[in-house]
Amino acid sequence: MSANEKLVVFDTTLRDGEQSPGASMTQDEKLRIAKALERMRVDVIEAGFAIASQGDFESVQAIANTIKDSTICSLSRAMDSDIDRAAEALKNANSGRIHTFIATSPIHMEHKLRMSPEQVVEQAVHAVKRARNLVADVEFSCEDAGRSELDFMCRIIEAVIDAGATTINVPDTVGYAMPSQYGHTMKQLIERIPNSDKAIFSVHCHNDLGLAVANSLDAVMNGARQVECTINGLGERAGNASLEEIVMAIKTRPDFFNVETNIRTEEIVSTSRLVSSVTGFPVQPNKAIVGANAFAHESGIHQDGVIKHRETYEIMKAEDVGWNANKMVMGKHSGRTAFRARLEELGTVFETSQELNEAFIRFKALADKKHEIFDEDLQALVSDTQKFVASERYGFVSLSVSSKTGDVPDSHIEITVDGEAKEANAEGAGPVDATFKAIEVIAQSNTNLALFSVNAITSGTDSQGEVVVRLESGGRIVNGRGADVDIVVASAKAYVDALNHLENATNEKGHPQKSAV
Ligand code: KIV
Ligand code: ZN
Repeated sequence: MSANEKLVVFDTTLRDGEQSPGASMTQDEKLRIAKALERMRVDVIEAGFAIASQGDFESVQAIANTIKDSTICSLSRAMDSDIDRAAEALKNANSGRIHTFIATSPIHMEHKLRMSPEQVVEQAVHAVKRARNLVADVEFSCEDAGRSELDFMCRIIEAVIDAGATTINVPDTVGYAMPSQYGHTMKQLIERIPNSDKAIFSVHCHNDLGLAVANSLDAVMNGARQVECTINGLGERAGNASLEEIVMAIKTRPDFFNVETNIRTEEIVSTSRLVSSVTGFPVQPNKAIVGANAFAHESGIHQDGVIKHRETYEIMKAEDVGWNANKMVMGKHSGRTAFRARLEELGTVFETSQELNEAFIRFKALADKKHEIFDEDLQALVSDTQKFVASERYGFVSLSVSSKTGDVPDSHIEITVDGEAKEANAEGAGPVDATFKAIEVIAQSNTNLALFSVNAITSGTDSQGEVVVRLESGGRIVNGRGADVDIVVASAKAYVDALNHLENATNEKGHPQKSAV
């Protein structure tokens, strides 16, 4: 039996990750990610901020009702209304946690909360007591701990542990900390707070200076026994600490860390791809662990070394994080039962036969164009089908583009608007530009195109292209995603998807850190 202590992995992709501009997800998408996280054996899934909107409430509730093996958590400010709403959403969870927080740094207390330190302690204690009356598992966070005074944190943390908090989170909200300093803070808190043994100490770091993982690991070295992180490091601004990097650092350096996680690391790459495909945030090729180049050896010297003895240049096995697992799973002769079974293994369960039929028709159409269908293709296909079935305002129907060297490209698009078919033509600098202009002839959305990116989902020239389109309108930012073997069609689908997101984003939802308590 291992003598190592357990490190609790708390994933906040669905909450802090979703706070990235443009990363908002539907309930179905959140459920698919939650199932992937459960399969990966994440201990705690922060499913959302229940009071933010009716949609957020329902997402937390649906995840709490479905996921059985991970604890489901909802964020709440240190306010009665937030705490009660979180408890309601978590009512049916096998294991539910309320995560309540209040800012503790002088700058936040004075300028954001406009409260005295005494008032902040009082409100935190009240919130934790209220939450403990509703659930047994309560986490308390000192927001902006990275810029809070140590003495004040000792005071408030001691008080909230007495009030019943079972986990104490120390977030570097603005990504300001330095590794050794943050580790030292963690150590001091644990040593100085008299009742620190009654709670698990947790770390939550943002990546503004690129130090989120380093800061988190230093805190673990100094006694933190929970890490808060996200898949692909998704999160506010520069993101949160990345789950895959923390987990693999701990697994790869057992000589250094005396902790271990429950994570099934072979699930990492597929979960990373799922999050990227759902949110439309591509993973950079040189991203540690999950980037396309993370295990690729370009230089001849390295390749020679790896062939002779893998450990010469590789410190981890690609298979251990789920690379090379994208074997061909299906082809044009695969039947509906095999199709459904494979998607269930990937975490997608069709709620209605309409959804299954629609996805299967799309699968057959794809298999006609592309001989080998990989898991990634199936995931992209499911995302597209869910959009199609969800009867959004805009729907892609067909596209015809003419593009010839020396001629001005011309695009003819057909889309539906509230179910009614509309067609338009436009010319542009290239086929994609012409297509977007043609869509705009119909939609007249008045948006700015903030990002356009294309990635191959798998390898080979018959790979589907995955396109991300980011639109900005009146301060709102949304991402749209589309996949197809024809990248101009994928681009049109992504643009239409972004327009739909823009429609849905008009219903404002609360941001936990924006509004003062
Ligand atoms: O970064 C932060 O401080 C947070 C808290 C709400 C925990 O996300
Ligand atoms: Zn955060």
